[in-house]
Amino acid sequence: MRILNEISLISLYHFINMFVQVNTFKAIKEYFVEGLEGLFEPGEIQTLFEITTEHFLGWSRTEQRTKSDARLSESELLDFHFTLKRLKRKEPIQYILEEAPFYGLLFKVTPDVLIPRPETEELVHLILNQNQDKLKILDIGTGSGCIPIAIKSKRSDWEVYAVDISEKALAIAGENAKKNAAECHFTKLDILEESNLPDTFPAQFDIIVSNPPYIRDSEKKSMDAGVTHFEPHLALFVEDDNPLIFYQAIGQNCLSWLKDGGKLYLEVNQLLARETADLLYKIGYKEVQVIKDINSNDRIVNAKK
Ligand SMILES: C[S@@+](CC[C@H](N)C(=O)[O-])C[C@H]1O[C@@H](n2cnc3c(N)ncnc32)[C@H](O)[C@@H]1O
Repeated sequence: MRILNEISLISLYHFINMFVQVNTFKAIKEYFVEGLEGLFEPGEIQTLFEITTEHFLGWSRTEQRTKSDARLSESELLDFHFTLKRLKRKEPIQYILEEAPFYGLLFKVTPDVLIPRPETEELVHLILNQNQDKLKILDIGTGSGCIPIAIKSKRSDWEVYAVDISEKALAIAGENAKKNAAECHFTKLDILEESNLPDTFPAQFDIIVSNPPYIRDSEKKSMDAGVTHFEPHLALFVEDDNPLIFYQAIGQNCLSWLKDGGKLYLEVNQLLARETADLLYKIGYKEVQVIKDINSNDRIVNAKK
């Protein structure tokens, strides 16, 4: 057993020496940057290296600038080596490190959940800015739980509920709620099949929010391979011949799930924002508005019952 351990230690040593000659932070940075050249923009490579360093070594970006000659252990070298290998396959850094920042919090993410996006932070921000009173809120298609958990972390007096069709996503959302000390109630629900809220939920809500799947199958080909190969298709795509299927179901159900005067906040496909707004008018909502994101794309539709 001891001989075996010695052999594996010796081969580990040779293995590490194969890819980096000196075990300094500077040398591992060069190895990492060279490995990604041509695959990502230089600025992106720098950011990927900083995120990886922060994750494995716990060094802030300022610290990283002063530690060129610091020596790394063999296991630390291996962490960088294996991260680089996966990045070369275009796997998103958030899945490699199993974490993603969202609205100032850290979320666990695995390929069972969508990686939270900055546009969705804007949706959360809008809800928090427009609503002050204590209220009850429901998130439909919660994924990692980023929306309800971010909201609960800022408004501890709000009652926060969320649903998703995916049990695996709900398990991750539950872990994230614990990790961020945000009490949220998660339950499985298929919004396309179910017209009743779970028995354990309030009968009606003040706010309902959703970032449902909204990318048409035909838009796949113009998307980054990191998204189409690694992120869950259940969270992203809808068929071309019925791209508003989720908005139809959400709009219809929320007419009974919202209190009178209650508000609906939806993240939408920028190319279908007008159609989504028209759909909500037709279903019976008032004060339907299309709101642009920070990149001037039509990104949020909100409406009142
Ligand atoms: C675009 S992702 C949004 C995830 C998360 N809310 C976010 O903003 O990062 C859409 C979510 O809807 C869920 N979903 C897909 N089909 C559903 C259905 N029929 N009923 C309920 N949820 C569904 C997916 O599992 C996924 O978590």
